[in-house]
Amino acid sequence: DLIFVLNGPNLNLLGTREPEIYGHDTLDDIAAMLDDQAREAGAEIDFRQSNHEGHLIDWLHEAQAEGAKAVLLNAAGYTHTSIALLDAIKAIKVPVYEVHLSDPHAREEFRHLSYVGMGAKAVFAGHGAKSYQLALDAALQV
Ligand code: DQA
Repeated sequence: DLIFVLNGPNLNLLGTREPEIYGHDTLDDIAAMLDDQAREAGAEIDFRQSNHEGHLIDWLHEAQAEGAKAVLLNAAGYTHTSIALLDAIKAIKVPVYEVHLSDPHAREEFRHLSYVGMGAKAVFAGHGAKSYQLALDAALQV
């Protein structure tokens, strides 16, 4: 099984970016954790990050074209703004799992709205890097 893990803007700075909110794990640390977890389950992940909305949309389309079993998507700030990302999620048949390190509902009001969530199969948030692991577990169990 192939699982795409897509990360949005500013997540390349994880480790030094507001560590009191996002923790000390870098994106490379998270990629390595998920690689191990996937390999143990006989699956494979394709892990990517971009600061550009259109790249994330292209990669959602690519996940479908490549026959991915699921997508884990931390759309970061675009979660709360991007109708185009929601449309892309709805346009593909591959299930998308929304992931966040922090819990957006426990933060500012403007983070409470999630366009991604309107198309996502499930949401995993508030557990730091572990949110990704929980989402991968869920995606692999289907
Ligand atoms: C985030 C939460 C978003 O509200 C924020 O814009 C991010 C990171 C998270 O993983 O906690 O960039 O998606």
